[in-house]
Amino acid sequence: MKTGIFGGTFNPPHEGHAEAARAVMRALSLDRIIFVPTAQPPHKALPRFSATEEQRLCMTRLMAESVEGASVSDIEILRGGVNYTADTLSEFKKLYPEDELYLLMGTDMLLSFGAWKRPADICALASLAVFRREENDLEKIKAAAKETEKAYGGRVCVIENDPIVFSSTKARGGDRQMLSPAVEKYVSDHCLYVDTDALCESVKGRLSEKRYAHTLGVASLSCELARIYGEEENRAFCAAVLHDCAKEMPLSEQLSICEKYGVKQDYDEDNLKELIHADTAAALAKAEYNMCDDVCRAIKYHTTGNDEMTLLDKIIYVADACEENRKWDKAPALREQAKRDLDGAVVFLLDETVKRLEKNGKKPYYRTRTALCAAKDTERKKKMADEPVSIVKTAVKAADAKKASDITVLKVAAQTTLADYFVIMTGMTGVHLRALSEEIEKKLKEEGVTPHHIEGVTSSWILMDYGGAVINIFLQDAREMYALERLWGDAETVDINTFLSEDEEK
Ligand SMILES: [Fe+2]
Ligand SMILES: [Fe+2]
Repeated sequence: MKTGIFGGTFNPPHEGHAEAARAVMRALSLDRIIFVPTAQPPHKALPRFSATEEQRLCMTRLMAESVEGASVSDIEILRGGVNYTADTLSEFKKLYPEDELYLLMGTDMLLSFGAWKRPADICALASLAVFRREENDLEKIKAAAKETEKAYGGRVCVIENDPIVFSSTKARGGDRQMLSPAVEKYVSDHCLYVDTDALCESVKGRLSEKRYAHTLGVASLSCELARIYGEEENRAFCAAVLHDCAKEMPLSEQLSICEKYGVKQDYDEDNLKELIHADTAAALAKAEYNMCDDVCRAIKYHTTGNDEMTLLDKIIYVADACEENRKWDKAPALREQAKRDLDGAVVFLLDETVKRLEKNGKKPYYRTRTALCAAKDTERKKKMADEPVSIVKTAVKAADAKKASDITVLKVAAQTTLADYFVIMTGMTGVHLRALSEEIEKKLKEEGVTPHHIEGVTSSWILMDYGGAVINIFLQDAREMYALERLWGDAETVDINTFLSEDEEK
């Protein structure tokens, strides 16, 4: 098999890479091409918000989809550090000993080939397949090819393709024409290659000094929260910098921007002036700054929250209220809470907002109220999932209501890392076992808890794994045979009557 190896940083991969690969495949009748993104060299400082290795790998995969017979290898990224082409080719030779290898490179690479590490080894492992980068460079390349063959042996194939004029530098500089739609979407969704200096300058021009200082404060805290909770800093930074970019525009101008971009808003007079800048800023972020939908929605909801807040929505919403320039007396505590418990901080802030508005005789905007209900609900469910004892309680009550017999709860936390609690019960028939398992699952789902898995270990034993609590529903014979209580004899038995009587009290 004839295999082409095409290494590079692919930062980002562009249509020039795809075209070069296709041209070489055609000219040399290759069976396949493997793109090999390089690892990030250690100690080399990258500009802020550069694409990570994983992101370059993802983008290369997206680009490769448009090249028939192409695939992507993570061999260099997995190896990490400085990778030499000679070593990578040796790896491929080991992987595909029967293959004839071709190393793809542009003319610029051939001209500097003598400076590569172990060029003779490279030429012994693979033929070089050189594609053109410029007009009128054919003679120069042919001469360089001859010299290379003479100096290092092996074979250099010069591909007489139309010159590849695309470049990653230009793509990073904002020329997105050279990216495939899929790579372009990826770049946009992840806010890659944003010129942050230009973005900040532009927003600075729209704001007073004080508002701009607040904006930078939101950006700094948002990036910190992004690092803590696993959001991409690029996205948090862009959303934060743009969140108040329309705040100081006259209302009439904001209304005409909203109309121009078809933004629907339903604020009453009370909150129109206070809230519309978020919609205007989101519209500008999309139309003028080319931001992705996720960033625009975080900007749109930064004043009100919403009932399905994404991680980015939460970060911007909370950071806006408590960045370090905020004079609000509760800001420092909220800032600390946000770093420990973002969901709790969202609930606190929504609650405070509703209370403050009501105290001032104003009606909170509906979105803030629904956001508060949703956030409280999420918190309650999270608490429930974190506390296996509440899972046990719900399961025991559901089982009791469906006539399970001999319900036993063992606290096994000290005996095993498998779970904190085992719940064991007996059903009368196979149908009864399934009815019990369905009822328990339904009741726990209502509480927002779903099982890791459920299995009918045998037709006479259903096991429901809820992480901290494992529920076992047996037929009588199977219960006696497996004898879990005897197996976990050291475990403490929990008195289930307290769970059941709680219900009666209500
Ligand atoms: Fe705002
Ligand atoms: Fe703000």
